[in-house]
Amino acid sequence: MAEETHVLDRPPPGAAADWTVPQGWHRYTAAEHATWDTLYARQSRLLPGRASAAYLRGLDALRLSERGIPDFEELSDRLEALTGWRVVAVPGLVPDAVFFDHMANRRFVAGNFIRRPDQLDYLQEPDVFHDVFGHVPMLADPVFADYAAAYGRGGQRAMGMDALKYLTRLYWYTVEFGLIEEAGGLRIYGSGIVSSFAETRFALDDPSPNRLRFDLARVMRTEYRINDFQQNYFVVPGYDELLRVTVETDFAPLYERLKASPDIPVAEIVPEDEVLTRGTQAYVRGRAAA
Ligand code: PHE
Ligand code: FE
Repeated sequence: MAEETHVLDRPPPGAAADWTVPQGWHRYTAAEHATWDTLYARQSRLLPGRASAAYLRGLDALRLSERGIPDFEELSDRLEALTGWRVVAVPGLVPDAVFFDHMANRRFVAGNFIRRPDQLDYLQEPDVFHDVFGHVPMLADPVFADYAAAYGRGGQRAMGMDALKYLTRLYWYTVEFGLIEEAGGLRIYGSGIVSSFAETRFALDDPSPNRLRFDLARVMRTEYRINDFQQNYFVVPGYDELLRVTVETDFAPLYERLKASPDIPVAEIVPEDEVLTRGTQAYVRGRAAA
């Protein structure tokens, strides 16, 4: 995930200068591989007809259906042949500058641990299932792969402009929780959704959340929650359009405008929004009452 609350400011013992660590594939236990298989089986049944065609193509091209936690070296060789990206292991969250440097150079940083069997439905830290099953298939799509690398360069720039808050929201509402409009209807591509059994249904089928047309400045003004289902999903018309608008827009003047405008609370609809589904917010109210 993108939210960074960094405790460390230098690589921990055993990590390289760029914070990478060996995946340690041979250390996974049979039980850990079985956890991956359980998660994989459950998600892959749910995703046809719900996940974006690009995501499903990536899953297939990378042969993620093979059993067990993928070996990052083998996975990276397949991925690199498609889009130049590789997957590297890191010990949990890394500093922003390190994260952006890897992204800009087409290295996706992934956790190497897997959740415990009692955490199948939710955990806050990104594990190997979230990072690999959730993120890596989209990186096999050439356009999305370019978007992710451009995002890394954008991050390096945003750091110098004290604008990470805004750029992180773009990551959140696209890479993590994005929806796309395809010929058959709305589909999910965000890693936080495709790797979650419950949010896969919630994001597409539940009447509670708003589904709004993606607008760059609007998204960057929008607050988000990291520990619950989203109340806003933003829908892109295509990855080429997402890439085009983010690459062609100079974010420097945009950041200045955003710093002068109020943030938009989660679940709020503003007059300029193109609303695809107006949410009932019943889910949020239910939570408040509980
Ligand atoms: N165009 C952005 C900038 O001027 C960089 C960027 C591209 C950010 C793509 C995110 C995604 O900073
Ligand atoms: Fe993530």
